[in-house]
Amino acid sequence: MSEAGGIAPAGSVALVTGAGRNLGRAVALALGASGTAVAAHYHASADGAAEVVEAIRAAGGEAWSLRADLSDTDQAQGLVDRAAEACGRPVSILVNSASAYEPSRVLEFEPEELAANVRLNAMAPLLLCRALAAQGRPGCIINLLDARMGDYDREHAAYHLSKRLLYDLTRMLALELAPGIRVNGVAPGLIAPQDGTGREAAQALAHTNPLRRTGSPEEVAEATLFLIRSGFITGQTIYVDGGRNLRGSVYG
Ligand SMILES: NC(=O)c1ccc[n+]([C@@H]2O[C@H](COP(=O)([O-])OP(=O)(O)OC[C@H]3O[C@@H](n4cnc5c(N)ncnc54)[C@H](OP(=O)(O)O)[C@@H]3O)[C@@H](O)[C@H]2O)c1
Repeated sequence: MSEAGGIAPAGSVALVTGAGRNLGRAVALALGASGTAVAAHYHASADGAAEVVEAIRAAGGEAWSLRADLSDTDQAQGLVDRAAEACGRPVSILVNSASAYEPSRVLEFEPEELAANVRLNAMAPLLLCRALAAQGRPGCIINLLDARMGDYDREHAAYHLSKRLLYDLTRMLALELAPGIRVNGVAPGLIAPQDGTGREAAQALAHTNPLRRTGSPEEVAEATLFLIRSGFITGQTIYVDGGRNLRGSVYG
């Protein structure tokens, strides 16, 4: 860590959850390219995580992949220590990107649907934050939120509630863990995935953004790295959404 409180990515160790695909993958690759040793967490995307590790190592960096089901409390609690063990030194950067995104309506979802969303999307990040803090060292945490969380995403109600919870946790933890650990959020909007049908769906909605285009996973990674380096910023959320949150909306 620099004296000013920013984390110099080069030489640090980062744990990125959900690093086997999409946004987590882009963040892991960007950190690796900045000289950070990366513990690339995955659940089902073993091949994707292996590719991330291979790409970082091929460029001369350090990386390891680690599997965990973060909806399991013990596995979530133990992941920071496992990452530190794999990398041979403590973790100073934690990026909570893993998340479930399933359709559900507020008048219809079962109690367990809400519980499952909260468990994976908010409780697991909290357990990981606590584990990082338990190392007793300076650090930096970025929680991946959602640009719609200030509005109302009717079609993903349980997800929506879990992300609002993570937003509040981001602010609470920024106070609880200061001054040693900074905690910030990145709230993506319409981000076009690298491939697949989701890309076309995102492109079709691009005109609804004030900036009239979709964002890229790399642009989310850029905001994440900015917050990691910025020693005087904590408890904040950067919206990477082409201005979409400014409109306010009910989605669905
Ligand atoms: N992409 C967007 O446009 C967008 C927009 C708004 C917010 N966000 C937020 O940005 C973050 C990343 O989004 P994304 O689009 O990259 O996600 P995604 O493509 O939907 O992938 C979900 C990620 O969560 C992991 N995951 C799912 N269930 C898990 C479990 N039980 N245990 C551990 N990991 C699990 C997956 O790992 P495996 O694949 O290894 O199973 C995967 O890496 C999320 O927090 C999301 O809410 C994204």
